Amino acid sequence: MQETRAWWKEAVVYEVYPRSFADSNGDGIGDLNGITEHLDYLKTLGVDVIWITPFFASPNTDNGYDISDYQAIMKEFGTMEDFDRMLSEIHKRGMKMVLDLVVNHTSDEHAWFIESRKSKDNPYRDYYIWKDGKDGQAPTNWGSRFSGSAWAYDEGTGQYYLHLFSTKQPDLNWANPKVRDEVYRMMTWWCEKGIDGFRMDVISSIGKERYEDGPVASGRIYGNDAPFCKHTESTHRYLREMREKVLSHYDLITVGEAGGTVEQACRYASSDGSELNMIFSFEHNDALNDHTAMGKWSDHGAPLGEVREILNRWQTQTAGKAWNSVYLTNHDQPRQVSRYGNDSPLFRERSAKMLATLIHMMRGTVYVYQGEELGMTNAYFTKLSQYRDVEVFGTWEQWVESGRVNPEDMMRWFERISRDNARTPMQWNRNKNAGFTDGTPWIEVNPNYLQINAEDEMQDPDSVFHYYQKLIELRHTMDIVVYGSFVPMLEESEAVYAYRRELDGNTLSVFCNWTERTVDCPEADAVPGRELISNYATHKPGVLLPYEARVIFTES
Ligand code: NOJ
Repeated sequence: MQETRAWWKEAVVYEVYPRSFADSNGDGIGDLNGITEHLDYLKTLGVDVIWITPFFASPNTDNGYDISDYQAIMKEFGTMEDFDRMLSEIHKRGMKMVLDLVVNHTSDEHAWFIESRKSKDNPYRDYYIWKDGKDGQAPTNWGSRFSGSAWAYDEGTGQYYLHLFSTKQPDLNWANPKVRDEVYRMMTWWCEKGIDGFRMDVISSIGKERYEDGPVASGRIYGNDAPFCKHTESTHRYLREMREKVLSHYDLITVGEAGGTVEQACRYASSDGSELNMIFSFEHNDALNDHTAMGKWSDHGAPLGEVREILNRWQTQTAGKAWNSVYLTNHDQPRQVSRYGNDSPLFRERSAKMLATLIHMMRGTVYVYQGEELGMTNAYFTKLSQYRDVEVFGTWEQWVESGRVNPEDMMRWFERISRDNARTPMQWNRNKNAGFTDGTPWIEVNPNYLQINAEDEMQDPDSVFHYYQKLIELRHTMDIVVYGSFVPMLEESEAVYAYRRELDGNTLSVFCNWTERTVDCPEADAVPGRELISNYATHKPGVLLPYEARVIFTES
């Protein structure tokens, strides 16, 4: 089936985590002017769209994912004038901007919540989810994503409010039409300002349907809220309403942070255009958890078989039904090259390029997370005091301080998996603090900035940066990269991830060695055609060298 064309299918999106991108005023915190100063860098890389994680007024419990005013700029990040200038500079360069829509919850310092908690009959009471306790306990056994109960008791009115994330992130009550109208009004306001799309935070949880205890998995402390709070019918209803009231009036790119199964994705991102353009899947990240009580905190690696089975399933089962987003990691995951590749000095560059090849040649809109294009690595902090993430501290309290897990195990898991690994400052050059700030950075700079930084990479034609630039250019110049169908190959191989794309009789064949060994792969030599890109200048017959990636174009 011929894929319908759309600009957002052809786009490469770059995710900016503003706090860690570039600090223009020396306070140690990245800001909007810092982004504006580096737009030429992004243009040189070749990306089309910049998704900026939340930059709205916020007490910063969760680095801006706790918003106290949707129509004001976080003071550490600048002013509305700074925003207007940034947006106009983005547009001047022919790029677009995606806003992070965080409307599952607000900050507890949002004016709505301040009102809401005042009294049971306050007009804003129903903007949030308030319930009576059950036998002196929380209304249900649900746990917060950041540890502890998902319910907080409020002395003032003697009721509990729901917070799927931290206690400072109360969930909005989407069942209340006034809440939905407020959200749609706010979205329209930003669209009128000229933004080009929305990334929708935890959008799959906006429709809560029942408030009942969830199943408690073995070894876990809290019950699972998913049956009542995730992928519900009401969520789909609200998204369709949002499309009708806001999205359909503009030419936007929309991506929902939704997770779930491929079937669920096909509904959110259906080709009928009734809800969203695409969603972010989490399966390749989540499946690597050990599925113990500790969830993502584990020693599980990233075996080829598991990763390939998941990514291939998402590629093939969305065909003809839905559009995909393709990415490996973001600001909520450790660094891509550390998690899926090999960040040792010997293999870092090759494996970063191999992973990039694998993702960029797939079917879907590609997302690049800041610094990934340089092959930035995990921070591997060894002391708790080096961390900044609310999730780390909540987890430490729940599991280590309570004596359930020993500190050495927890610290090892933080080093491998913590979100702070991906939140260290962008490495711009070899100057103090990697050129990120003249002040004291809010989180430590990775000391490897002397070896890994944008300035050096821009001067080196063989750098990871230039490799990304070339991959992006291929997507922009070859229809097959965007619109070709996806066919898995060598699915039994223990070392090689291979697939092909097909369009109008032409074929693009991709071979990636997932290992640090030289492995047999006569199939790569057997494909006739022209090599489009590889992370090795020369090849050895019959084999793929460590982390080798090769893309071959065969014209009919
Ligand atoms: C997902 C965001 O990506 C993450 O950073 C945040 O902590 C949660 N949603 C809560 O908003």
